[in-house]
Amino acid sequence: MNIILLGPPGAGKGTQAKLLEDTRGMKQLSTGDMLRAEIAGQTEIGLRVKAIMDSGALVPDEVVIDMIAHRIEQPDCAKGFILDGFPRTVPQAEALDAMLAAKNKKLGAVIQLVVDEDALLARIEKRAAESTTVRADDNAEALKKRLTAYRDQTAPIVPYYEGKNMLKKVDGMAAVNLVSEQIDKILG
Ligand code: AP5
Ligand code: MG
Repeated sequence: MNIILLGPPGAGKGTQAKLLEDTRGMKQLSTGDMLRAEIAGQTEIGLRVKAIMDSGALVPDEVVIDMIAHRIEQPDCAKGFILDGFPRTVPQAEALDAMLAAKNKKLGAVIQLVVDEDALLARIEKRAAESTTVRADDNAEALKKRLTAYRDQTAPIVPYYEGKNMLKKVDGMAAVNLVSEQIDKILG
């Protein structure tokens, strides 16, 4: 099955995607991770997006749409993929629909991790404190911008998928294992 994990920065998209990789053999496709790899490799894309990402703003739609279009065709996505951080705008959601139709693939579910915004700074700060490579956008200032981008540009995809009867909400404030249980129930 192919699914979307949707939620603001720090909602737990990456955490749950990794667990689904382990338990179901689905492939995590994190556009954030892909872009950070481009930056680390100092590729043309990396050089283009670095300042944008560091600030907490969204990179241009066509950059991530191209990445995902190529990625979902790879053999490791055959058992299903988890879109973590994509789509993030209505034009990205529309482009995803078009590419899935063209490749004869389907979306099984869009799972929204519903969280309390006030808890997210603490989560991001905890992650920064625990990791050896701290993300350039894991600071209070960039997080503020990431949350604004989520509210203004990403939240409109919620009604987009509600309109297609595809949206499932889970309580993202529950403990990690309880969030996983809710997702498992949805995926069956
Ligand atoms: P991206 O890498 O996707 O970052 P993000 O959306 O800001 O989200 P995070 O990765 O910070 O959070 P997460 O939801 O994965 O949470 P996690 O599981 O790590 O994007 C970064 C940037 O790339 C964007 O700002 C943009 O510039 C660009 N970009 C990427 N995709 C794009 C797109 N499609 N279009 C345009 N631009 C794009 O959890 C966070 C912390 O909380 C961890 O420490 C974790 O242990 C903890 N935690 C998780 N779950 C729980 C829980 N249930 N209870 C308590 N703690 C928990
Ligand atoms: Mg993530």
